[in-house]
Amino acid sequence: MEDKEYGRNILFYLNGKRVLVERPDLDMTLLQYIRSTGLTGTKLGCGEGGCGACTVMVSRFDVEQDKVVHASVNACLCPLYSIDGKHVITVEGLGNTTNPHPVQERIALLHGSQCGFCTPGFVMSLYTLLRNNPNPSEHEIEECFDGNLCRCTGYRPILDAAKTFSELAWKRGTSVIGEDGTAHVIRDENSDDSGCGLEDCCRLQKPNGIEKPKPTEFTLPEPAAPRTGTGDVCCGKTTSGSCCKSQNQAEVEKAQVIGQFKAYDPTQELIFPPFLIRYSKGNTSEDEPRLQTLKISSGDGTSWCRTLYRPLTLEGLLQTVEVHPDAKLVAGNSEVGVEVKFKRAKFPVQVYVNDISELRAVHSDANGVTFGANITLAQFGSALDALIVEHGEQRTQSLAALRENLRYFAGNQIRNVATIAGNIATASPISDLNPVFMASGATVTLVSHEHGQRQVPMCEFFLGYRRTAMQRGEVLLSVHVPFNAEGEVVRAFKQAKRKDDDIAIVTCGLRVRVDVATGVVRDAAFAYGGMAPTTVLAKAAMRSVDGQQWGERAVLDSMLAACQDELRLDYGVPGGMAEYRAALTTSFLFKFWAVSCKQLRISCAEARLAQELEEDSERQLSRGKQEYASVVDRAIVGKGIAHLSALKQVTGEARYVDDMPAVQGELYVGLVMSERAHARILGIDSQHALELPGVHRVLTAQDVPGHNVWNIFKDEEILPSTEVHHMGQPLALVVADTQRLAQEAARLVRVEYEDLPAVLTVRDAVEQQSWFPEVRQLKNGDIEAAFAQADCVLEGESYCAPQEHFYLEPFGSIVVPKGEGGEFDIYASTQNPTETQMVCAELLGVPANRIVCHVKRMGGGFGGKESRSALIAAYTALAAYHTNRSVRIMLDRDEDMQITGQRHPFYGRWKVGATRDGQLLGVRMRIYSNGGFSHDLSIGVLERAMSHLDNCYRIPATDFEGRVCRTNTQSNTAFRSFGGCQGMIMLENMLCELADRLELPVEVLRERNMYRAGDVTPFSQPLDDDWNVPRMWKQIKQKAHFDTRRSEVDAFNAASRYRKRGLALLPTKFGISFGVKHLNQGMALVHVYMDGSVLVAHGGTEMGQGLHTKMAMVAAETLELPLDAIFISETATNTAANTSPTAASASSDLNGYAVYNACRVLADRLRPYRESMHGESFAKIARTAYLDRCNLTAAGHYATPDIGFNWQTNEGLLYFYFTQGVAMAEVELDTLTGAHTTRRVDIIMDVGKSLNKAIDIGQIEGAFAQGQGWSTTEEFLYFPKNGRLFTQGPGNYKIPSAMDIPRDFRVELLEGAPNALKTIFSSKGIGEPPLFLGSSVFFALRDAVLAARKHSEHKSSLHFELPATPEILRLACEDELVELSRIPKEQKVGVMPFVVRI
Ligand SMILES: Cc1cc2nc3c(=O)[nH]c(=O)nc-3n(C[C@H](O)[C@H](O)[C@H](O)COP(=O)(O)OP(=O)(O)OC[C@H]3O[C@@H](n4cnc5c(N)ncnc54)[C@H](O)[C@@H]3O)c2cc1C
Ligand code: FES
Ligand code: FES
Repeated sequence: MEDKEYGRNILFYLNGKRVLVERPDLDMTLLQYIRSTGLTGTKLGCGEGGCGACTVMVSRFDVEQDKVVHASVNACLCPLYSIDGKHVITVEGLGNTTNPHPVQERIALLHGSQCGFCTPGFVMSLYTLLRNNPNPSEHEIEECFDGNLCRCTGYRPILDAAKTFSELAWKRGTSVIGEDGTAHVIRDENSDDSGCGLEDCCRLQKPNGIEKPKPTEFTLPEPAAPRTGTGDVCCGKTTSGSCCKSQNQAEVEKAQVIGQFKAYDPTQELIFPPFLIRYSKGNTSEDEPRLQTLKISSGDGTSWCRTLYRPLTLEGLLQTVEVHPDAKLVAGNSEVGVEVKFKRAKFPVQVYVNDISELRAVHSDANGVTFGANITLAQFGSALDALIVEHGEQRTQSLAALRENLRYFAGNQIRNVATIAGNIATASPISDLNPVFMASGATVTLVSHEHGQRQVPMCEFFLGYRRTAMQRGEVLLSVHVPFNAEGEVVRAFKQAKRKDDDIAIVTCGLRVRVDVATGVVRDAAFAYGGMAPTTVLAKAAMRSVDGQQWGERAVLDSMLAACQDELRLDYGVPGGMAEYRAALTTSFLFKFWAVSCKQLRISCAEARLAQELEEDSERQLSRGKQEYASVVDRAIVGKGIAHLSALKQVTGEARYVDDMPAVQGELYVGLVMSERAHARILGIDSQHALELPGVHRVLTAQDVPGHNVWNIFKDEEILPSTEVHHMGQPLALVVADTQRLAQEAARLVRVEYEDLPAVLTVRDAVEQQSWFPEVRQLKNGDIEAAFAQADCVLEGESYCAPQEHFYLEPFGSIVVPKGEGGEFDIYASTQNPTETQMVCAELLGVPANRIVCHVKRMGGGFGGKESRSALIAAYTALAAYHTNRSVRIMLDRDEDMQITGQRHPFYGRWKVGATRDGQLLGVRMRIYSNGGFSHDLSIGVLERAMSHLDNCYRIPATDFEGRVCRTNTQSNTAFRSFGGCQGMIMLENMLCELADRLELPVEVLRERNMYRAGDVTPFSQPLDDDWNVPRMWKQIKQKAHFDTRRSEVDAFNAASRYRKRGLALLPTKFGISFGVKHLNQGMALVHVYMDGSVLVAHGGTEMGQGLHTKMAMVAAETLELPLDAIFISETATNTAANTSPTAASASSDLNGYAVYNACRVLADRLRPYRESMHGESFAKIARTAYLDRCNLTAAGHYATPDIGFNWQTNEGLLYFYFTQGVAMAEVELDTLTGAHTTRRVDIIMDVGKSLNKAIDIGQIEGAFAQGQGWSTTEEFLYFPKNGRLFTQGPGNYKIPSAMDIPRDFRVELLEGAPNALKTIFSSKGIGEPPLFLGSSVFFALRDAVLAARKHSEHKSSLHFELPATPEILRLACEDELVELSRIPKEQKVGVMPFVVRI
C-alpha cells in the first residue's frame, strides 16, 4: 500500500463532541488524553486495569450487527489510537452537580461515595450497564462492579444505590422502581425483634398476647415523631430518651432520600453520533475523513511504539505482518499494555487488530464451533450463552466450561476489550482459557502469507514458558472447539486469592468420555494451568483412567496419586504455594470425579457429594441493613446527612491533587529507586539521564540546602547520602518536562552499590536481635504466681501480616514557588499538612512561615498519608527550589507500594495461665513489630498494640513487653487502628488456642473473662459507666440468634463433608486519643462574611471519612444556621496552624470542639443583633454586625482534658474514652479449595451520640471491609532473595471486592447507653475502632477449619496465622489430599521460598 493511502489522524467523539487528533502520541493512553483535556473526573488508581478508577464508556457501531454497542473500558490500558471511530463518555458526560444523572444522584445521596476517588469508575460501570440494559436484575447490577475497587465504603451503599435501578426491587428494606421511574422503599421483612440487651427491654414484652402486625409497605413517611409505650412501641425509658423500639431512622432517612430521586429515563441519554455510524460504514461524504487503515509514526525519542498500523481487514493485517514480521499485534492491550508499562517491553512496530471484523466472526457446523481469534471475551461469553441454548447442554459441555471460567476472568472492563487470541498467544501458564481449550480438544488456526493457513491442536501449541508454535509473521485466525459426545463431561475450575478479578493460582479444564453403556473410560483430558511453565496435560493421570471403570474407588485413588506424582512442585517454585497448588490439582480432580459421576448417573459415594461440591454460594445476592433509632434531639447534628462533597465526587467535579491544572512551565519529578535492600552508595552517575532533552536536573542528597534529616526520631534522610536501607528507596530525583521523560531518565541513572547484610522478616530480626532501643512494658500482678495457680498453662506464637493501605489515590504533590522570599505553596495529598510544611521548611532552610501546605481532599488515607506523605512532598519542594518552577509528582501505584510503608506486621510469643473453666489468671506476651528501616511512627504503633493486648478481658496478672524490629523493608507506618488490631489479634489468637486446649468454645472464654464496669485495664485505666461491651454482646447474641445459629451451623457441618460453616462472636474496645499528649489539640478559624455565608477552617483534613461534613454540621448547629450556609474549602497551614495529623479517630473530637468554640464566640457576638433583628435574614444580621464593627472572625482551640500517660510508671490517663463494638460473623468454607463466603455479619457499635449516623455507619462498614481484607485476602509479600516487593499492585495484592462483602450485612448503632462523655455533642470517634471487627471473619473461618479437621479426626491444635488466604485455609484442613501434597521436610531444608511474609 502506498504511504499516502494511510490515515494518520484519529477521529472520535468525546462526551458528544467531535475530536480530531492529528498524529496522536502512540504511547498515550485514553486516560492520559482525557485528563489532558481537563476532564479529570476519570482517575488513575493503578494503571494496570486492576482498580476500575479509570472506567469510561466506549460506544462503537458494530457494522455486522448493525447496532451500537456500549462497553465499559479501563481507560488506563486503552491506547488512544484505538478510539478512532468511537464515542467515549466520561463521568462528566453524564451530569453535573446542578443536574446530576440519576446514577450519580443515587450513589451520592445513598452514601456510596466517601473519598470519591473510585466513584467515577463505579458511576461509569453502572451507567454502561444501564445503557445496554435499562432494566437490569439485581444480579446483573452486582456483577457489573467486578472490575471496580473501593477502599472506603465496604461497597454496601454503592450496591444499595445501584439496586434502586433494579426492576425487581429491594425485597428486604430496599427499593422498587415505580411506573414513573422513581424509587420507593419497601419495609424490611426480616427485621429481628429481640430487644436492645437491656434487662427490661420493652421489645421483649409481649403486647398482651396480640400478635405483632406484619410490616406494611410505606412510601416516603414524614420524619418519625418519637413514640412512647410498651411492647410494640417505644417505652421511652432509657436514659437517652430513646428506645430500641423507636423507628429505625436509617430506613426513614433512606426512604426520604430515595423518594427525592429523579426518574431514570433511558431516552434522555446522549445519543451515538450519526456521523460515526456513517464513518464506521465508510460512508462519509467527500470532505470528511473516511475510515481507513492507519499508519502513524511517532517522532518522540521516548516512545515505545514508533509506528502503528491499524488495518481494518484480515488481508490488510496479513500484508502488514508480511512487511513487518516482528511487529507486535495489539488487541485488547490488557497484556501488551502491562508488559510495556511494568516490564518496560519495547515494541517499535505495533499492529492494532481489534477493529478487524473477520477476526471476530463465530461459525458453527456439525462438529463444533469456530471462534474468530479476536472476539472479545465479553462477546465470547454472549456467543457461548447463545450456543449452549442452541445446541443443548450435552453437546456444549466444553462451551459451558469455558463460560464458567470466563465468569471469573478479570473484570467487565477487561473482558470488554481483551480477546481470546490475546490469551492464547500470551501463553501464560496461568491462563484461564487455555486449559479448557486444551481439555476440550480445541484446535487453533494460524495464518500468514508465507505459510498460508495451518491447524495446530491446542495440546501441541504451547512449547514452553510463553512460547508457542506460532511462527514469525503468523497470525492467530480462529479457535475451533468440538462439540461433545454422549457420555462426555467437561468442567473448569479456578482458584485465585480472590474470586473476582484475580489471576488463577491453579486453573484447569477436565474432560472425560465414557462408554454410556458400560461406564468405561474411552477418553480423558486433564489440563492444568499454574502447575508448570506452560499449560500442561496430566498425562499419567489420564493414562491411569484409560479403559477403567469410571466411578470405582480404586480408579479414583490411582488417578489422584498419578496426578499428584506428575504435578508435584519444588518448594521454591516460581509463584510459591507449592503444597497448596499441588493440593488444588487433586482437589479439582476429586470434585470433577464426583460431579461427572453424578452427571453420568454412576452410583458411587462421591457422586452423592456432587451437589455440595458444585454449589457456588459466592454469587448469592448481598443485602444490608442499617439501624439507628429516630431520636435526634438537635436540628442538624445527629442526622444521616450525605457527605457534602458527594455530588462533586460522583460527577467528577471534585478535585484531587493531580486534577489541578498545570502551572505554566511545570516540571515533573521521577524517582531513582534503590536496586538493593541494604547497601553503601559508592557513586551515582546521572550523565545519561541528563543527556535526554527535557531533563533539567538530577538531584541527590548533596543538593539539599537545609536539613536532609526528617521524621520525629530524626533517623531518616530525605535522600540517602551514604546508604540505602530498602529495595525501592528513592535515592535521587530526576526533574524533567513530563512524567514519562522523568521516569525514563530515572532509569538511566546508574548507581554503584556495595552490598550490606539485610534482614527482612520480623522473625529473622528477633533472632538477630535487630531492633530499635525502645522497650515498652505493662506489668501488673504476680505473673509467676498466676502460672503456678493455673490448671492450664499454655505457650505459643502469634503472627499477623502487614497490610497495604491501598488508598485509591496514590501519593501526589505539587509545589509552586512564589518566586520571592523563599515562599512556596505546597498542594499535597496528606493527612498531615503541618508536618509537610515543617519538613519542607527544614529541607529548604526557610522558616515555616514561608511555606503553606494546602489540602483540598484526599482519595483515601487510612493512616498511610500521616507521615510518609511529607517525604514525597519534600521531593517536589526540593525540585521546585532548584528549578524555581512548579513541580509535580504523582506516584504510580507500584512506586507507592514500594516506598510508602504499610501496617506493621507483628510477631508474638505468649504464655497463658488459666483455670480449668477458662478464667484467665495471667498472660505473658512478648510482641515484636517489623518497623522497617526507620522509626517513623513505630513506637506509637507499638504502644497502642501494647495497650490493646487486653482487648475486652480482665487479666489479673500481665507481663507485656514490646519492641520494634529494624529491618530492610520500607518504614512501616500508621494504618487505621494503628497497632490496636495487631495487639487484639495477638490476644484473640492466644484465646483460641487456649479454648482448643480446654475444649471450650472460645466465645465462652470471651464471655467469662469480659471486663465489667469498674475493672481496671493493664494500663491503669478504670472502665466506668461508659462500658457497653457486655450489653452489646448480649444484644447481638439475642438479635443475631447466636445459640440457634450455632446449632444450625453444627448441624450443617455434620451433614456436609467438604463445605463447613463457622461462626464467631468478637468484641472490641478501642482507646480514643493520641498516645502523644501534645497532639491532643485541635484548632479552627471561622469567618462570617457580610452576606451571611460562613467559612470554616480547621486543623483536620478530608480523606473521605466525612470530617468536613461533620465539622460543617457542628458549625451550623452552633451558629443556628442551615447547613448550606457553611463552607469548608480546604485545610491549609495559613488558616489552621500547628495542626495535629488527621488520625487516631480523634479529629472530630479535637477539631469539632475547636469549631464549636469558635462558633460559640461568634454566636455570642451575634446574639444582640439576632435578638434585635428578629425575623431578618442572617445575611442582613451579618451585614449589620459588620457595619457595627463587630468582629466576625473567631478562632477556636480545644485540648483534651486530663490526658497523659507515663509508660515508665504506668500512671496517668492513656485514652479519653473507648469506642466499643461487637460483631458476629458466619462463613462457609469450601474445604477442598480454601475459598469462602461470608454469609452474614451483624455489628453493633457504640459511637456515643453520633454526629452523623449515616457517615458513622459508612465508617463501620468500610473499616469492617478493611479488617476483613487484612485478615483474609490481603497478603503483602517480598522476594527473599533480594528484598524486592512482590505485591506491587492490584494484580497480586487483593483487597476485598464487592462480591467479598458479607452476603447479609447488618449494622446497628447502640442506642440508649448512658453517655456522660465530655466530647463534642457526646459523640465518639469512629474511624478506626470497627476495623478489628473485620477479623470476626477470620475467627469464623477458624471455626470452620476446626469443623473440617474434626471430620478428618485431627487432634493436633490449630495454629492459624493471619491473613487466612485460601492457601492457609486449604492446608489447615489437613485432609488426605493435603497430606498427599506435602513436601517432605528434608526437601525444604536450605531452599529459599519464592516469596515471604515479613
Ligand atoms: C486486570 C487484568 C486482569 C486479568 N485477568 C485475567 C484472568 O483472570 N485470567 C487470564 O487468563 N488472564 C487475565 N489477564 C490477562 C489478559 O487480560 C488476557 O490474557 C487477555 O486475554 C489478553 O487479551 P488482549 O486482547 O488484551 O491481548 P493483548 O494484550 O492485546 O495481546 C496479548 C498477546 O496476544 C498477541 N495477539 C493478540 N491477537 C493476536 C492474533 N490475532 N494473532 C497472534 N497474536 C495475537 C499479542 O501480540 C500479544 O503478544 C488479565 C489482565 C489484566 C490486565
Ligand atoms: S487506573 Fe485503570 S484500572 Fe486502575
Ligand atoms: S470512596 Fe471508594 S475508594 Fe474512597
